[in-house]
Amino acid sequence: MLPSEMRSKGGVYYTPPALVGRLLDAAEAAGIDWATAHVLDPACGGGAFLGPVASRMIEHLRGCNRRVIVRNIATRLRGLEIDPFAAWMSQTFLAATLHSALDGAGGSIGEAITVCDSLTHRSCETFDLVIGNPPYGRITLTKEEREPFRRSLFGHANLYGVFLDLAVHKAKADGGVIAYVTPTSFLSGEYFKNLRGLLAAEANPVSLDLVSERTGIFDGVLQETMLAVFRRGEQVRSPAVSFVEATEAKLSRKRGGDIALPEDPQAPWVLPRSPRAVGLARRMSAMPDRLADWGYKVSTGPLVWNRYKEQLRTRASRSTVPIIWAEAVSADGEFLLRSDRRNHLPFLHLEASDEWLRVKRGCVLLQRTTAKEQARRLVAAELPQGVVDEHGSVTVENHLNMLIPLVERPKVDTQTLAAFMNSAVADEAFRCISGSVAVSAYEIESLALPPHEDMRQLSIVLRNHPTRIEIDRTCAEIYGTP
Ligand SMILES: C[S@@+](CC[C@H](N)C(=O)[O-])C[C@H]1O[C@@H](n2cnc3c(N)ncnc32)[C@H](O)[C@@H]1O
Repeated sequence: MLPSEMRSKGGVYYTPPALVGRLLDAAEAAGIDWATAHVLDPACGGGAFLGPVASRMIEHLRGCNRRVIVRNIATRLRGLEIDPFAAWMSQTFLAATLHSALDGAGGSIGEAITVCDSLTHRSCETFDLVIGNPPYGRITLTKEEREPFRRSLFGHANLYGVFLDLAVHKAKADGGVIAYVTPTSFLSGEYFKNLRGLLAAEANPVSLDLVSERTGIFDGVLQETMLAVFRRGEQVRSPAVSFVEATEAKLSRKRGGDIALPEDPQAPWVLPRSPRAVGLARRMSAMPDRLADWGYKVSTGPLVWNRYKEQLRTRASRSTVPIIWAEAVSADGEFLLRSDRRNHLPFLHLEASDEWLRVKRGCVLLQRTTAKEQARRLVAAELPQGVVDEHGSVTVENHLNMLIPLVERPKVDTQTLAAFMNSAVADEAFRCISGSVAVSAYEIESLALPPHEDMRQLSIVLRNHPTRIEIDRTCAEIYGTP
């Protein structure tokens, strides 16, 4: 019933009971003893976690005097919340949970909930379990606000990343557990590389449950969601992955086995997004080649067209270059020099200071974003050297990534690379490091690839005008997933 503007501004999305139940089970599996654990939810909203946590505490204290139970829980359960009304709900539901579980006996739960901004709230209390569904969204922090979280930040701060760092501060160093509902973007994004480094050093993942997109239980949330449990004080290099489908009240879970964290703690974590991709993800973790080993680097197209509106032209002249717009890369991976979307003109007039916009080298073009409903995340096409030479040079719009040869003769030629990037298995591999519709240069450069020598097999197949299925089959064999 909250206004949608308030929900998106404060990152207010309350967690359904089925997911809460699973996260509590996962925390228990990571070592939490409800009879003794001190528990904090630093973004407790209406108490979606605190009520069920109190219920489990009561179950584990059966047989004790009811007053003692309430007093005991009052000392072990804490919630922080910025919204006073939500905090009141938490406090009230918590009291109601205790009241009904203890048949009305027991007394007051005290002030378990504090109304505050968790990111500036100062307290040196630490907990056995930090649990919750922290808010997310970009935030701007002042220098002072940034300071305690500097170790995990790189560029833009995202609220949930800062709440993860806060949880590391708040969980006990010897075995404290963190159990969060989070977006998955921290697994791969460059902005989160210091956070990954912090987690690898201080709080290793124990279990990661991917919540199926079909679930649709966080109304209006577009990001891929995960139930993540971390433990402090002990090295866990192979967290268990599961796939979860849930409604408000029910949840089913399929185990996907263990995965390996990368050797470089800041590198993207390879995580299968479906049971089908488990084997591929395991193989990827052992593949040392990256795009640079094949002889390429990734840059985004240099032209941000709306900064050059005045220089767009309908006709070619001596001072113009053709513009490669995103639509030049068709959904099935063909390159066609065209400009048929609104406001797109075919040529750009270059001033003397615009020389850096020229692209003189043939490369592989890769779309930077795809629509969520689109079947593939990777959509590539070869920009042949012949097309560039025909015009002397071209420019490329920034909705495209360019996979640019680093040397005259890269180990994999551009035609083969484009065919490979368009294959079903490359798409699946990319999804193991990114749940987002955006395809960043950083992630493409981090993608684990088969040895470049194996790509010769694909080059040979391409000589005989293969069908898409034949290309897919060859690429799957090369990736080791026939
Ligand atoms: C995603 S909701 C989850 C609420 C609750 N944990 C649940 O799962 O139902 C995030 C909550 O964090 C609160 N919040 C946002 N920024 C906060 C901050 N800086 N400090 C404390 N709470 C904050 C919001 O008001 C909201 O209630």
